Amino acid sequence: MDKSFNGRKVILTAGPTYEPIDPVRFIGNHSTGKMGFALAECFARHGAEVHLVAGPTNLKAQDPAIEVTHVTTADEMYEAVRRLAPAADIWVFAAAVADYKPKAASAKKIKKAGDELTIELVKNVDIAAALGKEKRTDQFSVGFALETDNETVNAREKLQKKNLDMIVLNSLNDPGAGFKHDTNKITIIEQEATTAFELKSKTEVAQDIVNLIWERVHA
Ligand code: CTP
Ligand code: CA
Repeated sequence: MDKSFNGRKVILTAGPTYEPIDPVRFIGNHSTGKMGFALAECFARHGAEVHLVAGPTNLKAQDPAIEVTHVTTADEMYEAVRRLAPAADIWVFAAAVADYKPKAASAKKIKKAGDELTIELVKNVDIAAALGKEKRTDQFSVGFALETDNETVNAREKLQKKNLDMIVLNSLNDPGAGFKHDTNKITIIEQEATTAFELKSKTEVAQDIVNLIWERVHA
């Protein structure tokens, strides 16, 4: 097959993370995990050994070459990724990790009382940034950025800050792109190149991303 990833190990993060407030409530987001799962399937089709670390999602991996580790919180996702990353050649951070978590989850259900409730939040670990500090020169990493304004500048900043080789920019301003849709319009930003793509299905978008990664890691 052309564009083969035979013998390459890929790890991906996908989906949201849920950060517990108490035993019945959490802070989460609308990520479905579709983009990460589509990428995992695409890498597997091209011969890669794929490990997907997935936050809460209804999706199931179809290809038997995909191993899935299910996690709930950002801390659990980080634990799993840290364990798997050293052995992987390619890292793809497609998860919508919650930026903050409740400082302390209540052991008991919080009862309704008073007109206001304040929950103190603390910053979660930045998985991509933490791994970026450990990245070897033989490893390739890809992140995602969902922006509403100052898109290119913000995405470029994330590319540097997280030591990524490539960042896939999704614009929420494009109708049909982003959460809940089956289509996406992306721009791939690298240190010295910017590539814009048309609005496509997430499966086709995954193929575009995988093609470009192949070109970079096989160059
Ligand atoms: N990311 C991560 N761990 C986090 C937050 C983000 O691994 N705690 C990864 C995402 O998977 C994505 C990239 O970093 O590949 C950018 O995520 P994004 O939420 O756009 O960036 P942030 O750095 O969190 O900045 P902000 O949300 O303020 O735009
Ligand atoms: Ca964020």
